[in-house]
Amino acid sequence: MEAVVVDAGSKLLKAGIAAPDQAPVLVMPSKMKLEVEDQQLADRAVVEEVVHPVVRGFVKDWDAMEDLLNYVLYRNIGWEIGDEGQILFTEPLFTPKALREQLVQLMFEKFNVSGFYDSEQAVLSLYAVGRISGCTVDIGHGKIGAVQHVASKRLEIGGVDLTTLFAQELKRSNPLVNIDPSDVERLKEQYACCAEDQLAFEALENSWQPERHTLPDGQVITIEKERYIVGEALFQPRILGLEDYGIVHQLVTSVSNVSSEYHRQLLENTMLCGGTISMTGFEDRFQGEANLSASAIRPTLVKPPEYMPENLAKHSAWLGGAILAKVVFPQNQHVTKGEYDETGPSIVHKKCF
Ligand SMILES: Nc1ncnc2c1ncn2[C@@H]1O[C@H](COP(=O)(O)OP(=O)(O)OP(=O)(O)O)[C@@H](O)[C@H]1O
Ligand SMILES: [Mg+2]
Repeated sequence: MEAVVVDAGSKLLKAGIAAPDQAPVLVMPSKMKLEVEDQQLADRAVVEEVVHPVVRGFVKDWDAMEDLLNYVLYRNIGWEIGDEGQILFTEPLFTPKALREQLVQLMFEKFNVSGFYDSEQAVLSLYAVGRISGCTVDIGHGKIGAVQHVASKRLEIGGVDLTTLFAQELKRSNPLVNIDPSDVERLKEQYACCAEDQLAFEALENSWQPERHTLPDGQVITIEKERYIVGEALFQPRILGLEDYGIVHQLVTSVSNVSSEYHRQLLENTMLCGGTISMTGFEDRFQGEANLSASAIRPTLVKPPEYMPENLAKHSAWLGGAILAKVVFPQNQHVTKGEYDETGPSIVHKKCF
């Protein structure tokens, strides 16, 4: 039986049998609906509560995670109880040791897997474009992960913060309309975009083109500068109230901490991935700022290989996981059940890099 690969993101869980030339078969929201008794109500009526087991990339609710994986592996992927296979998980940068141990424990003790491996999302995304070293800028929902083989950086900005910003800005322009939070995310994905550069963004100040949008409940809102403010926040984080420099500057500075002999190899193999980079104009703005960068070597974006599936950037961590699964399991580099039983959860730090 082929190994299963799971990339459980803060918003979307991607899962499927390791097939590196195909997109994951399952892409679903990383959330569970729980039915709980409402203690506040006199009759303690049962109400539905939505739980997000993964927050900013890390598992925060293990019971909900177990339920979610039960659904994914038995109901969707087709595992049968008593005949579970091998599994590879992607993990964010700087995953605390305790969380890795909890995951390997859950897998061997509750899911009875026959083999386990986990590896960093940012590194896996490089494998997906046929690189073993380079820079990854992964802008997902909960965080930005950037990696160069020795210097990694995690920023607590992600799609979720852009959604919050968009909601605030829309409220300001449409004070009388109540917009459902679930609609805001969809509107962000439809409208958010990046101006060509900072000057173009400032120039737009006087020439916004308002667009009217009808919400599912029939209310009409106008969307104008908000759509650009959301994109601009990635390049000017002060819009989000953060002190950080923009994303290109941060990438170049963190590479400058690595020995200069590696700068070219790293920066000239820059991979953009994660759902947020599909925002209109993002890639052009990133490359435009990169070309203006003061560093001697400027970031250059990797072109996805033609044989890889469409939407590579959205699924690159999963696809890299599928490539790695084809290596680690056949070559017995994974954690086996015997090793887990002998050493316990800490085996994960010895065997998975
Ligand atoms: N066209 C778009 N414009 C702007 N944002 C988008 C667009 N398409 C998707 N997104 C955003 O991408 C994010 C989801 O991306 P992704 O699947 O990479 O995140 P994740 O893997 O679940 O999260 P993380 O890796 O941060 O834990 C969401 O915030 C979503 O709103
Ligand atoms: Mg992700």
